[in-house]
Amino acid sequence: MITTAFFDTKPYDRPHFDALASALGVSITYFESKLNEKTATLARGFDVVCAFVNDTISERVIDTLYEGGVRLIAMRCAGYNNIDFKAAYGKIHIVRVPAYSPHAVAEHAVALLLSAVRHIHKSYARTREFNFSLTGLVGFDLYGKTVGVVGTGKIGRVFCDICRGFGMRVLAYDPYPAADLDVEYCSFEALCRESDVISLHCPLTEESLHLIDRASIALMKEGVVIINTSRGALIDSHALLEGIRSRKIGSAALDVYEEEAELFYEDQSATILSDDVLMLLISMPNVLVTSHQAFLTEEALSNIAETTMASIDAFGRGAFMEHEICYRCDHCHKREGARCF
Ligand code: NAI
Repeated sequence: MITTAFFDTKPYDRPHFDALASALGVSITYFESKLNEKTATLARGFDVVCAFVNDTISERVIDTLYEGGVRLIAMRCAGYNNIDFKAAYGKIHIVRVPAYSPHAVAEHAVALLLSAVRHIHKSYARTREFNFSLTGLVGFDLYGKTVGVVGTGKIGRVFCDICRGFGMRVLAYDPYPAADLDVEYCSFEALCRESDVISLHCPLTEESLHLIDRASIALMKEGVVIINTSRGALIDSHALLEGIRSRKIGSAALDVYEEEAELFYEDQSATILSDDVLMLLISMPNVLVTSHQAFLTEEALSNIAETTMASIDAFGRGAFMEHEICYRCDHCHKREGARCF
């Protein structure tokens, strides 16, 4: 039986994984702690580690896991910026869930966009206190406005389709434009200059780190709306805060935050947060923050469990793993239908 150490477990994870585990002969031990240098020893004696977006999979963590017998890290997410791939290569295989529901994330981005533009978060708070005033709640029509979509992969293209349904002009920037997508591709700078709304749907890489910074904000229209459901560090939070304060940015809706790892997914309501930037952002009337929940639909959770468990099953059978990734994926053995190494 394949043994799996499941880190950063939340109550909504278990039903979907438990439903598949026994049929596949996989035993899962659930740990609430995140995977990091302090907790990696918990995985000693397990074959597989299942990890998530805010786990720390550094060289030291990888070495500890490897010494403890772990040979597969199954990421139950699409993004993988938290893994030291070079350290893992040759030791521990890594799989991920490349697509579980692009609709879940794109629809959440749209929910954030509509809430920000029509001040739904403020209306909700007001009417709960029987304050039925409309003062300060003037929004704007999305129809006829320009949305700039950064990254037109699986999620970005669903977001583009929805925006077109609103009658928006869709501009896009992607270093690898899609030939089959009916959008106007342009440079990132032109997108910043021309968009009323900017939504981020690209991965976090060395090139995209702080893509939204002082310089790019300076190019943007007064009152621009910024939506980020991708990764927090695509935005320089200090620059964002400055842009909000100077009123250059009309509103920001964030599902991710660059320093979210120790905060998001946990109830911090009785804690004095030490992150002043996040506290200031949250205190702004035109900033809306959700806690990295864009993926959280029944459909996505079910797809995540199915793909992850299928990878673990393939690993146990010694078979090819379709969703394996490594840092040499353009040149590794996967091209020949084998495992990366
Ligand atoms: P994808 O791989 O299908 O598409 C990403 C696109 O971004 C590709 O077309 C790629 O060419 C483009 N790209 C790469 N570097 C770029 C850059 N510097 N500037 C502009 N575009 C660039 O990925 P998918 O599935 O659409 O996911 C996008 C991102 O969404 C993920 O990387 C992840 O960070 C985030 N995500 C967030 C979730 C949440 O719950 N908030 C859940 C799932 C994904």
